[in-house]
Parts: sequence; structure tokens; C-alpha cells
Amino acid sequence: MQELSVRHLLGIKEITPQDIQLIFETADNFKDVLNRPIKKVPSLRDITIANVFFENSTRTRLSFELAEKRLSADVINFSSSGSSVKKGETLLDTVNNILAMKVDMIVMRHSSPGAPHFLSKHIPANIVNAGDGTHEHPTQALLDSFSIRERLGEVAGKKVVIIGDILHSRVALSNIFALQKQGAEVMVCGPMTLLPKYIQQLGVKVETNVRKALEWCDVANVLRIQLERQQMKYFPSLREYTLYYGIDKKLLDSLNKEIVLMHPGPINRGVELSSDAADSHHSIILNQVENGVAIRMAVLFLLAQKG
Ligand code: CP
Repeated sequence: MQELSVRHLLGIKEITPQDIQLIFETADNFKDVLNRPIKKVPSLRDITIANVFFENSTRTRLSFELAEKRLSADVINFSSSGSSVKKGETLLDTVNNILAMKVDMIVMRHSSPGAPHFLSKHIPANIVNAGDGTHEHPTQALLDSFSIRERLGEVAGKKVVIIGDILHSRVALSNIFALQKQGAEVMVCGPMTLLPKYIQQLGVKVETNVRKALEWCDVANVLRIQLERQQMKYFPSLREYTLYYGIDKKLLDSLNKEIVLMHPGPINRGVELSSDAADSHHSIILNQVENGVAIRMAVLFLLAQKG
């Protein structure tokens, strides 16, 4: 049986193109399971997984929990709000106490970049990074590429633009790594203040004009402005951002071509995307969410094989 090259999923940077293909082929099988009347398999029976979330989440947290339950794992959920973290307990103490209850895998979201990498050096359990600050969000990038593959047949050779707040986005970095490992061309688009200085060193094209970016691409992955991570003003106002970078159906229709529109969520409707664009036939936003469960089932199943 094929197996992953890693025993943790810390980031897309650490995995190989073969790992991505294996995850997709495994997710194809789990997607078939999820379309059956009985959506559950015994693959992770007797495995206990803790979802440890130090930051807010809707999609990722529910999607992991559902994936774990569909695989018949035992699941516990930890949220830092209302926990003893508020009394000063450290990350490592918190996780070691959870592991003392005989937990096998940790799915963790944390606001500090590198937090799951740090943990992986100190604990024996498999770790899945569910988003570490502005660094990586590997399962989001995997479900994004899986959704492109589903809609367009393959990712190789496709032109994908990531539009918006690249500077504060873990989704952007994981997507750049994932798309390039599969042979896609990647562009980033946004105001210069929201593009990291080093971005061209990653081998991506850079564009500040959203119409030109949309004319170039097959797929547009639109990101939200992460006001909660911004320490200063990067643009004059949200109104002005929407004027120059907001995407609506009129703009999409004026391109006179098919385009695949994506967004990792949560959407700020009326800011980066209008409702008529988000809900248009171009959009695969809810397919991304649906595919997230199969992708996370695949990741958990394959990591469990690594012990
Ligand atoms: N896409 C994503 O990570 O959404 P949540 O923050 O709701 O998990």
C-alpha cells in the first residue's frame, strides 16, 4: 500500500507531489463513501483525535469533526476560550494533558506561525495543522486544488490567481506551494501594500489590476481582508478596496469567458465579492466546503497508517 512521506501534515511545503496525488486518490474514494446513504466507514475505529482550536473557525473545525466521525474515530474538541489557557497554561502543557488521556492525533489551529512544527518536536502524536497564524493552512489548499481538479479535470497547466490580502493569508502560501507542486501557473493580485515583499521569490506572477488578473486566469481564488491581523492601515477604506478589488457578476460577465470562482470563507459579502458573484454559476465555493470533508478524511486516514 502507498503511504505518505510524512507522519504529520504541518504544511504543503513539507509534502511531495506524490503525497498530494495519494491524498486526492484517497479522497476520491472517501467522496464516494460520502455520497452513499450510509456515510460511515470503520477505518479509524479505536483511534482518538483531539481538535485543538486556539483560534475561531467554522468550516475547518466542523469539517475535521465530521471527517473524524465518518471514519469512526473517537473525537474530543478543545477550544482555548473557556479553557485553562486563560489561567496561563502553556501550549505544550495543554497538549500533553490532552495526550495523557490516550489521544492519538492532534488537529490544531493556532495564531502563532510554526506552533504545530514546535509541537511536532515535543509530542509523539500525529499532528495536522488546521491553520497556523499567517503561515500555512494545508488542508484548505488541498481541498482547493481537489476542487479545481474536479471542475477542470486537472490542476497541471491551469492559471490560478489568488486575489486579496496575500500578506496576512495562510491560505495564499499553502495554495502557492500546492499549485506549483502540481504544475499550475500562479499569480497573486492585490494592492502593493497587501503583497509580501518576498512574494516574487516564490515564482509567482504579480498583478495589481484585478481586471487584468481575471483576464489572465482560469481560476480566481478570492481572499478576505483579514482586518483582525492588520496592525496598520494598508488601504484607505473598505469602500475603496471594494471599488478597486471587489469582484461582482458584471465584472465576471464582461470577461466573456468561463472562469472558476473560489473563496476559502468566511466571505465578506459586498467587500471582496458581491453576492451575485459569490452565488453565480462561476462559483464553486460550496463545492470547496463539501470536498473539505473527503480531503480531511483522506489526510487523517493516511497519517494514521504512519503511526
Ligand atoms: N476556510 C477556513 O479556514 O474557514 P474557517 O476559519 O471558518 O475554518
